[in-house]
Amino acid sequence: MGKFNRKSTAEEVSAGIDLTGRHAIVTGANTGIGRETARVLSLRGASVTMACRDLEKAEAARDEILAADSRITKDQLEVMRLDLGQLSQVRDFAKAFLETSRPIHLLINNAGVMLPDRRETADGFEAHFGVNHLGHFLLTHLLLERIRASAPARILNVSSDALHFSSLTESLEDLNWTKRKFSGWRSYGDSKLMNVLFTNELTRRLDNDGVVSNALHPGIVKTELGRDQPWWMRAVGLLMLPISKSPEQGAATSVYLATNDELGREGAGYFADCAPGRIHPLSDNAQLANSLWKLSEELVGL
Ligand SMILES: NC(=O)c1ccc[n+]([C@@H]2O[C@H](COP(=O)([O-])OP(=O)(O)OC[C@H]3O[C@@H](n4cnc5c(N)ncnc54)[C@H](OP(=O)(O)O)[C@@H]3O)[C@@H](O)[C@H]2O)c1
Repeated sequence: MGKFNRKSTAEEVSAGIDLTGRHAIVTGANTGIGRETARVLSLRGASVTMACRDLEKAEAARDEILAADSRITKDQLEVMRLDLGQLSQVRDFAKAFLETSRPIHLLINNAGVMLPDRRETADGFEAHFGVNHLGHFLLTHLLLERIRASAPARILNVSSDALHFSSLTESLEDLNWTKRKFSGWRSYGDSKLMNVLFTNELTRRLDNDGVVSNALHPGIVKTELGRDQPWWMRAVGLLMLPISKSPEQGAATSVYLATNDELGREGAGYFADCAPGRIHPLSDNAQLANSLWKLSEELVGL
């Protein structure tokens, strides 16, 4: 049993850590797990770019964080627009960020959607595939040189135990869900398994250059993730409330992996509750991870 458990909060797991001089980018930081992650990293002294698709929501979140805690200062929290569902906008974000001289010690690919029906991104990709995987895949690539130059650095991919519902096969058939009957759960699970495959392939390619990448399941967390689900799924969510984590607890594994050395030093790990998580049988499949990487490069135009 590790030092922390499913009840631990992001503040508890980072107590005593000083991140002064470190810079983090957190995607989807305006609400839920991402917002708490950004808050606690800045509380520990880091400066944080809150990379969010809706600037108004992001600025409101930043103002609330600042108003609630005088230990966090205005210059620590920056808001920038990032829409992972539009690859040209991901490129615009990266360009604007790279024009600043800021280092990137932590990239936390946290944003995500969980949808009941088939929707498409601006580029025509099924939305789970496009936002949860391809958007973060491109973002990470575009920022990688800066991340390497900032080493020691960490890249975290917020996955989910929903990866166990994945329908992904080694043939990478129909990732866009145009030939099969759509299943929101399976498609969401696919994208979350892709987060893990991406983490593992990235680790293979990082080659000991001071950057480690890990993936994690935050737990079942009370957030806005189910906002698009039908009423009956939200009712199931209500039934889960007694076993659900608060966002403060839900951000703990992200913050732990971002700030501590006890776990995930080698990279390519999958964690939950600040401890090793339940691995999917395909997640160690290096050939699959490599094929997904190559296909993703092609699809995002790298
Ligand atoms: N909550 C859980 O039980 C749970 C369990 C396992 C894994 N996760 C994972 O945890 C991560 C955080 O989710 P959460 O629970 O905190 O959900 P949330 O409260 O719905 O937050 C999701 C965040 O992602 C952002 N986002 C969605 N689409 C985006 C896009 N196209 N471009 C940029 N940002 C986008 C949202 O922005 P807007 O507010 O503007 O839409 C929001 O900031 C997700 O990756 C999710 O899959 C959550």
